[in-house]
Amino acid sequence: MMDQVDNAANRRQFLRFLAGSPVVAFTGLSAFAGDTASSPPANLPDPVNWRALLTQDLIKSPGDAINVFDFELVARKNVPPGHFGYMASGIDDELTLRANREAFARLQLRPRRLNDVTKVETTTELFGVKWPTPIVIAPTGGNRAYHPDGELAVARAAKAHGHLQILSTVASTSVEDVVQARAAPIWFQLYATQKWEVTEALVKRAEAAGCPVLVLTVDRKAGRNQETYLRLRRSDSQDCSGCHEPGLKGLVRMKPNFDGIDVSGLTSLESPNLTWDFVNRLKDATRMKVVLKGILTAEDAKLSVDNGVDAIIVSNHGGRAEDSGLPTIDCLPEVSKAVAGRIPVLVDSGFRRGTDVIKGLALGAQAVCIGRPYLWGLGAFGEPGVERVLEILRAELEVGMKQCGVRSIAELSPAFVRRA
Ligand SMILES: Cc1cc2nc3c(=O)[nH]c(=O)nc-3n(C[C@H](O)[C@H](O)[C@H](O)COP(=O)(O)O)c2cc1C
Repeated sequence: MMDQVDNAANRRQFLRFLAGSPVVAFTGLSAFAGDTASSPPANLPDPVNWRALLTQDLIKSPGDAINVFDFELVARKNVPPGHFGYMASGIDDELTLRANREAFARLQLRPRRLNDVTKVETTTELFGVKWPTPIVIAPTGGNRAYHPDGELAVARAAKAHGHLQILSTVASTSVEDVVQARAAPIWFQLYATQKWEVTEALVKRAEAAGCPVLVLTVDRKAGRNQETYLRLRRSDSQDCSGCHEPGLKGLVRMKPNFDGIDVSGLTSLESPNLTWDFVNRLKDATRMKVVLKGILTAEDAKLSVDNGVDAIIVSNHGGRAEDSGLPTIDCLPEVSKAVAGRIPVLVDSGFRRGTDVIKGLALGAQAVCIGRPYLWGLGAFGEPGVERVLEILRAELEVGMKQCGVRSIAELSPAFVRRA
């Protein structure tokens, strides 16, 4: 009886705290927080999402982080609204952006018991190279928008625990400098543009820098309405003219991988003209392996294999390419089936937890790329932030594998996943 009284009092106190909290409206919990003092409502979510309620408790150092989301709010505070909005944004209604996350909740893991998982091995192999972890740094442009150390901080963090890094064409640091900071070969992501001479020059540059693999992004074919970016930018009081010059020439001047390349005639970096002929021409123009990033269907996966592509990244650009609403984790089974082990498959978009990574690996990916989480770490604390984000993901992956009863990535299969 006493317990019940105490619980009721605690509950009222908690709901009063909610009512006074500036984050309640933001989290959509105001409906039950409003009538706290008199009659506590029965519809308090179970479990309560404490993270959503305690957003005022920002972490002060990377070591304080409990999960990768803890970095997002600190990055939101540190990074100018325009830059943060650009990173966070999806397209239009952000259906794809949300679908990427929601799809994981519809997939359940099927843990196996009575396997000795004292030792777990997370090594994966791509093109004959063994990586200690299947967690890969996805290419993201302009990392200095989030921290002055930008891509160099990311490279050093990747180096600390042997993560593969894919560098964007539109990085704010040159491929040569990033290779040096990573102290190992990195993969180069290519925005081909619409001009073959530009493509060729970028390819030669990446090759000369020692990149063994070229990742051709095939999902940026049209303009995009990045509403979150456009809205948050309005509250940005910074004078942007010191960094951002108008027009394409102004843009590429900020992107060192274009140094010395003639971009005359180009109006954008998008490539609406890409075809399978282009892929074949690209393959003939380089000795690097050619990977396609942005494949979502069995049809295109099969064509990729037929056209001699070396690997596929199942990606919707983190919900930033189109608002189809199609989550990549749901595309992975059909792509894996079409490829049938003939070439490696990687996946990205919305991976935030070790269990997400396990679902990707179980459904046929050899590696999982992450984008925003490491940018949150970068924007929050620079290199130590990126390191901690990667550490959390590796730790969650290892624990998740143990919970599933698997000792190596090779043991994971679709049998470990069921649809809710
Ligand atoms: C701020 C930002 C910039 C990006 N820039 C590029 C890029 O230059 N080239 C590219 O192929 N993909 C780019 N992407 C997409 C990522 O490579 C990756 O597909 C995506 O971030 C994965 O989704 P996630 O952010 O949910 O992990 C970018 C993503 C973000 C968030």
